[in-house]
Amino acid sequence: MFRVFVWDMFEIDKDVGYASARRVKMDKIIKPVECLRGEIVLPGDKSISHRAVFIGGISEGRTLAKNFLKAEDSERSVSAFREMGVKVEIENKNITVFGSGLKGLKKPGGELYLGNSGTTMRILPGILAGQDFEATLTGDESLSKRPMGRIMEPLKGMGVNIKSKDKNDFPPLTIRGGGVKSIRYTTTVASAQVKSCILFAGLYAHGTTAVTEPFASRDHTERMLELFGAKIAKKGTTVSIEGGCRLCGRELYIPGDISSAAFFIMGACILEGSDLTVRGVGLNHTRLGFLNTLRKMGADIEINKKIDAAEPYGDIRVRYAPLKAAVVEEGNIPFLIDEIPALFIAASQAEGKTVIKGVGELRVKETDRVDSMLDNLGRMGIDTECEKNNVAVNGRKHRLRKARLQSYGDHRTAMSAAIAALASDGECVIENADCVNISFPDFFEILDYLKR
Ligand code: S3P
Repeated sequence: MFRVFVWDMFEIDKDVGYASARRVKMDKIIKPVECLRGEIVLPGDKSISHRAVFIGGISEGRTLAKNFLKAEDSERSVSAFREMGVKVEIENKNITVFGSGLKGLKKPGGELYLGNSGTTMRILPGILAGQDFEATLTGDESLSKRPMGRIMEPLKGMGVNIKSKDKNDFPPLTIRGGGVKSIRYTTTVASAQVKSCILFAGLYAHGTTAVTEPFASRDHTERMLELFGAKIAKKGTTVSIEGGCRLCGRELYIPGDISSAAFFIMGACILEGSDLTVRGVGLNHTRLGFLNTLRKMGADIEINKKIDAAEPYGDIRVRYAPLKAAVVEEGNIPFLIDEIPALFIAASQAEGKTVIKGVGELRVKETDRVDSMLDNLGRMGIDTECEKNNVAVNGRKHRLRKARLQSYGDHRTAMSAAIAALASDGECVIENADCVNISFPDFFEILDYLKR
């Protein structure tokens, strides 16, 4: 019988929170292990947690979301809404949001600081577009270098007054709400953040707003808006929304975060003898690109006890099986965008050359994840090739070389490096590993629990 690790064993002081607690730069030493074994339950999905705050905040009445992610990024959304007058209570794994209605947010007392959270920075302007005040959004050093033209252009097309402080593509952003017009917009990148921003702004316009993407991206916004009463239609890669719908608070369950599960799943795929079960994890098809790719590579992955809710979830069991190389096409990238750092590590342990095409969007994440991951793979003795936005990883069948690895302050780079270290031939150091708090504060504790 396995013990089951349930993530709230490691509660932090609920009055402090991760976002307001000062982070202490921490290097983490990781020793190689034989395998990962056990059963775990993970904190709620980050994308869905953000949306519970956004949509709960502009709904009428009370929203209760169970299994909310308590991490720096999701808490940035909470503090932004609190500063705009929305009452939010977080108790254990539940969040209750007392919504202000579509246009009921209050002008914040000062600038809204969003830390590292790209999702808040890119989606919130769509909601601010419909409010009756001006607000300025700022972020940390990494967020201040992330492109915002992709949301500014469609919002301007909808008549929204949005400006970047330094008249460039980057935050701080100032949004003056009011007078939103509907739009039919085709994005140049497949991005759920951009799509969501436009859909939220569309709620405040007369008539239908439609967004078409080059490839489909994750659809949590559409699902949750529909659940709360919005009129949404989908056709191919086009999503449309009717303006003016009232949203009503709801109760919902936030499944475990598949993007966090991905690190352990990848570990079980590369460490011989592993047997891992992740219970209650999100199985939305727009997030399954990583599992599907690993299966194509020969991974032994079973999905059990699937529940078909507004956001489906179930149990994933992974047992070690040798991996072989695969080719990932550009159209699949949005369905595994946050798992590509983990995929790079899996590919390094597969037989043959894995090619991942069209990874340009990885370059504008919390770091340039192509550069950060290829640097770490190089330090561990893995040969990679990169031509424009296509990356090839030459897998090898022996252990990775021990090394000093860099997180570059990027949570997903840090967690991928930590799992790679488990499959190495000696002790590794991950620099600034504290950045895991951005999405997964319990990562190292759960990892310790699974190590054998
Ligand atoms: C997210 C969408 C993705 C993803 C990010 C979260 C979301 O970004 O990388 O971590 O919650 O909408 P893009 O939509 O920009 O690809």
